[in-house]
Amino acid sequence: MSLKTIFAEELLWKITDGKHEFQQGVTALLSGGMGSGKTTLLLHLLDYLYADGREVVFWRGREIDQWHHADHRVEFRIFHHVDDRIQFEADSEIKQYYELYPYKTIREIIRNADSEMVNVVYPPSADWRAEYSDQNLVTIYKEYKQARILAANELNTTRHAFWYSFIYEMLKLKSFASLFFDEFDDIAERYAKGYKYYMLNFLMNALRYFRQRKLSLYGATQVVTDIDSRILGKMMFYLYMAGSKVHRDSILDPKKVKFAELGHAFIEEKNTGTWAKFSFPDRGIITTLLVTLRGIQSTEDDDFEMVEVEGVM
Ligand SMILES: Nc1ncnc2c1ncn2[C@@H]1O[C@H](COP(=O)(O)OP(=O)(O)OP(=O)(O)O)[C@@H](O)[C@H]1O
Ligand SMILES: [Mg+2]
Repeated sequence: MSLKTIFAEELLWKITDGKHEFQQGVTALLSGGMGSGKTTLLLHLLDYLYADGREVVFWRGREIDQWHHADHRVEFRIFHHVDDRIQFEADSEIKQYYELYPYKTIREIIRNADSEMVNVVYPPSADWRAEYSDQNLVTIYKEYKQARILAANELNTTRHAFWYSFIYEMLKLKSFASLFFDEFDDIAERYAKGYKYYMLNFLMNALRYFRQRKLSLYGATQVVTDIDSRILGKMMFYLYMAGSKVHRDSILDPKKVKFAELGHAFIEEKNTGTWAKFSFPDRGIITTLLVTLRGIQSTEDDDFEMVEVEGVM
């Protein structure tokens, strides 16, 4: 058994308090200062959870990303919007196998996610449009705002709206699944206003259902207090690394957490008074991979361009 498998099993044992061999339905927030090992720890968990196909793992794709540091045996399915072309920086370190998977709707992603691969999901480069989202945003918005009038424009232009819709769709999954979300404050930020404020009510409830439906969310952020308190209320576990502030209900010594050594972390189960200190192995320098998504024109425009080019030649 590899070192990191042993580590992950130990960690999950701690998380489940030895009750289950393997537990689904975990909401956990990793936090720590810059370079404290948040991504390293996320990757350890990712490797462990995808490894035997017991659940579907989703990794939130970003333009500066680090998923290529997942275990070298991993195969990646890269979901990108059908109107986008995706490119990796020329001398990237992707030595692993990956396949591109264009999608039109979020439902297609969920349906075609593979439990034997890491499913990296890139939102469309253009603003996510409500008509692509299987009406999820409209439904969520109506339900949570009880809006008299639905301002479609408001939905169409909101950054990260894609992710609310994605999470809505995840709730319908029949299989176990985990979502890994580095920089989780992007969709759960504190003091969100307007549309986002209502979406956070949805996210809060969604996380409650996550637990019931055996879905997991592993989010990472630098500072716990950057996350909306409604969302913090739904986190079952906090994993603190060096430089973290602790949650206000924490029983941990804030100084010990703040000055934790690299490679060491604290795990605390909320409201139970249980915590543990653990160490996790290094996995080398976590370089970034630049991923470019470029919107392409609609099919009609493509045809038009081809004619033009032929004309010139
Ligand atoms: N367990 C460990 N033992 C020793 N060194 C480690 C360990 N974990 C991470 N490191 C080192 O720290 C560096 C930063 O780790 P990582 O990128 O995971 O941190 P991060 O918290 O995600 O950083 P950022 O704030 O930039 O996102 C790694 O490249 C690695 O060299
Ligand atoms: Mg990181």
